[in-house]
Amino acid sequence: MAKRKFTDKVLTERALRSIAKTPDPRLKQVMTSFIKHMHGFVRDVKPTPDEWMAGIKFLTDTGHWCTGSRQEFILLSDTQGVSMLVDYLNYRAGAGTTESTVLGPFHREGAPEYKLGDNICKPGTPGEPCVVRGSVCDATGRPIANAKLDLWQGDAEGFYDSQRGEAMNLRGVMRTDAEGRFWFRCVKPTAYPVPHDGPVGKLLTATGRHPMRPAHLHFLITAPGCRPLVTHLFVKGDKYLGSDAVFGVKDSLVVDFRKGRDGVFEAKYDFVLMPEVPPKKKARAKKKK
Ligand code: BEZ
Ligand code: FE
Repeated sequence: MAKRKFTDKVLTERALRSIAKTPDPRLKQVMTSFIKHMHGFVRDVKPTPDEWMAGIKFLTDTGHWCTGSRQEFILLSDTQGVSMLVDYLNYRAGAGTTESTVLGPFHREGAPEYKLGDNICKPGTPGEPCVVRGSVCDATGRPIANAKLDLWQGDAEGFYDSQRGEAMNLRGVMRTDAEGRFWFRCVKPTAYPVPHDGPVGKLLTATGRHPMRPAHLHFLITAPGCRPLVTHLFVKGDKYLGSDAVFGVKDSLVVDFRKGRDGVFEAKYDFVLMPEVPPKKKARAKKKK
């Protein structure tokens, strides 16, 4: 090998050359970009060895905080806007279809099945009574009968059921009627903090940020022939709409929760699902990469 003076640029070239024979083209693309960006990051920041160790300790702590019910790495991705960026690049609602947002850590498989009109909250759940109604249709405007709505929310004290124990509450699964309509009872959503007792919480504080999310209600809507929609409805007027800790707010998802004369809050939303990505297009998209 010809002698070359060791420089940072030479080092980056060598690191890139070391993966030149990666057989999987996608992995090669990912690792090439990773090496370029990581080396660029280090060149930009010029960390001291102590600072580099502090970064490694932060990532190590983040891993140690992960358990079956706590995913600190996803929280890191959420709070740095990366989860929303991945979602945006993969799920671009257009032509009147409903926009998506983050799934978050509180979705649970196997939520109880409810009939239309049922209350997804057990008696005694903290919160103000609320009715949510609306419809689900496809991108051509055709109502979708029997679309599956998986709903979940926190209570008025800012807790999801899984943060209080094992029992399912404030969540449920139901299906639209023959005209694609749904309606259910719940409690009016309240703003609450993302889990902030771990390394990600410390990072939020250190970067001058709060951990709050504006009040919202989660939806995962699925129907044959359509792309699953993961989204929220946000409560209009919430003071955290402009500073959501996970950058999940989109204007089209902000809804009036109006108090009726009977003291029950009411909200309405009509969801429009995108068509499923045709298998041919999926294969073409893969080939392009
Ligand atoms: C949530 O909406 O429940 C949530 C989303 C992202 C991170 C933490 C919580
Ligand atoms: Fe949430």
